Parts: sequence; C-alpha cells; structure tokens
Amino acid sequence: MVKSRQIFSPLSSVTFLFLIISDITYGTDTDIFCLKSIKDSLKDPQNYLQSWNFNHKTEGFICSFIGVECWHPDENRVLNLKLSQMTLTGLFPRAIGNCTSLTGLDLSANNLSGIIPENIATLLPFLTSLDLSSNDFSGVIPLSLANCTYINTIKLDQNQLSGQIPQQLSLLQRLKTFTVSNNSLVGPVPNFTNAHVLVNYSNNKGLCGPSLKHCPNN
Ligand SMILES: *[C@@H]1O[C@H](CO)[C@@H](O)[C@H](O)[C@H]1NC(C)=O
Ligand SMILES: *[C@@H]1O[C@H](CO)[C@@H](O)[C@H](O)[C@H]1NC(C)=O
Ligand SMILES: *[C@@H]1O[C@H](CO)[C@@H](O)[C@H](O)[C@H]1NC(C)=O
Ligand SMILES: *[C@@H]1O[C@H](CO)[C@@H](O)[C@H](O)[C@H]1NC(C)=O
Ligand SMILES: *[C@@H]1O[C@H](CO)[C@@H](O)[C@H](O)[C@H]1NC(C)=O
Ligand SMILES: *[C@@H]1O[C@H](CO)[C@@H](O)[C@H](O)[C@H]1NC(C)=O
Repeated sequence: MVKSRQIFSPLSSVTFLFLIISDITYGTDTDIFCLKSIKDSLKDPQNYLQSWNFNHKTEGFICSFIGVECWHPDENRVLNLKLSQMTLTGLFPRAIGNCTSLTGLDLSANNLSGIIPENIATLLPFLTSLDLSSNDFSGVIPLSLANCTYINTIKLDQNQLSGQIPQQLSLLQRLKTFTVSNNSLVGPVPNFTNAHVLVNYSNNKGLCGPSLKHCPNN
C-alpha cells in the first residue's frame, strides 16, 4: 500500500499541474464563448447586454461587461454573473456550463421560462449562490442541486415550480438560505438538520413538515 502511494503521488501532482496549466491556457477562451452563447440564447428587448461586445478581445475585456464579475480584472474568467431585472426572456442558458469557474448566478426578476436543468451540478459544480427568483421557471427542483456541494444560497421564489422538494437537499452542509415561496410545491420539506438554514415555504400548494401543516403518515 505504502509503495503504491509513493509511486502514485508524483503522478497525481503532474496531473494536477497539467490541469492548472490547461486551465490558464484554455479556460478563459471557454468563458468568452460561454458569455457569447448566453447572449445569443436570450432575448434582450431592452438591450441591457449591449455592452457585451466580443469584437475587441483583450485580457480581461469581458470583466467590464454589465453583470459580469471576474476572478481577476485582467483575466477573462467569470466568477459571478448577475443579470437581475433585465427583462430577459428565454430558457435557462445551459451554455453557462462553459463558464467553468462560475460560483454565483443571479438571474432573478426576468422572464425566463422552461425547466431548471436536471444536470445543474454538472453544469455549475462550484456554485455557491443561485438566485432564479421571480421568473417563469416550471417543472421540478432538480435532484442534482443536492450535488452542488459548495452552495450556500438557493432562491427560487415566485416561479411555477411544482412537485416535491428533493429531500437530499438536507445533505448540503453549507446551505444557509433556501427560499421557495410563491410556487406550486407539494409534499414534505427537507429535514435540514443544520439549524441555521433560513427557509421560506410561504404560498405553495401543499408543503408539509416542521412548522408547516403535519405531513400525512405513509
Ligand atoms: C461548451 O462549448 C462547447 C463548444 O466549445 C459545446 O460543444 C458545449 O456544448 C458547451 N457546453 C455547454 C454546457 O454549453
Ligand atoms: C416580465 O416580467 C415582469 C416582472 O418580472 C412582468 O411584469 C412582465 O409582465 C413580464 N412580461 C412578460 C411578457 O411575461
Ligand atoms: C450526484 O453525484 C453522484 C456522485 O458523483 C452521482 O452518482 C449522482 O448520479 C449525482 N446525482 C445527480 C442527481 O446528479
Ligand atoms: C409572493 O406573492 C405575494 C402575493 O402575490 C407577493 O406580495 C410577494 O411579493 C411575492 N413574493 C415574491 C418573493 O415575489
Ligand atoms: C416569505 O415569502 C413571502 C412570499 O414571498 C413574503 O411575503 C414574506 O415576507 C417572506 N417571509 C420572510 C420571513 O422573508
Ligand atoms: C430529522 O433529522 C433528525 C436528526 O437526524 C431526526 O432526529 C428526525 O427524526 C428527522 N425528522 C424527520 C421528520 O425525518
């Protein structure tokens, strides 16, 4: 065992170094492509995304785009995307999966519709904050959200979400805020054992559990 460990660890360091280098070399190109694909996929009737001009590529040029926050101002790598209240219409922009270092996504108060991607944790593995509130999203809250292990804020209020809330969300160790008011959710709410999770379940069709109506035994 000890021997294989000794052989293995230099190998994995090399792999790790390769990952870092390849990220520096190619990572930022995918972030540019990511934003361009997002812009192309959304309707923007009020031209909020006019500043998203991809013609003059320089180091960090996307960092001055409205709603875009970068890890470093001189590096085209998106940290947070904040596109709240821009009357954007369309589906959840799945192209966001190419913003490979994204941690914060705020699409609140727009007119986005369709489902929340069932593979959201694969698209955005490092997500710490997700705000999709006040849109027209429908369908279920994807089970995959329980695989966003770094997430601390989930706001899904004021949409058309239905079905049950995945119980597995209670496994999210860092979760601090989980609000889903004004939807059509039913069934038992997750049993958050972390006492510090702030929740809002108001105005749903039939949620039950602690501090709500009693869940029927089954
Ligand atoms: C990322 O970009 C590639 C093309 O470079 C595309 O094939 C792929 O579908 C994109 N991924 C996502 C999640 O959009
Ligand atoms: C877009 O959303 C705003 C509020 O977020 C709402 O007042 C408006 O009716 C919506 N427009 C459409 C076309 O759905
Ligand atoms: C969550 O991650 C685990 C381990 O990678 C995987 O087996 C599982 O399918 C994922 N669940 C969902 C719903 O994506
Ligand atoms: C939920 O609906 C109520 C009543 O329509 C409204 O007053 C409230 O602002 C809504 N909450 C959110 C977060 O949009
Ligand atoms: C919970 O959500 C409802 C509806 O969106 C809102 O009216 C209320 O103020 C919220 N409660 C708290 C404690 O934030
Ligand atoms: C919630 O979790 C706690 C601690 O694990 C447990 O004692 C309790 O029975 C659970 N409640 C429900 C309704 O599952």
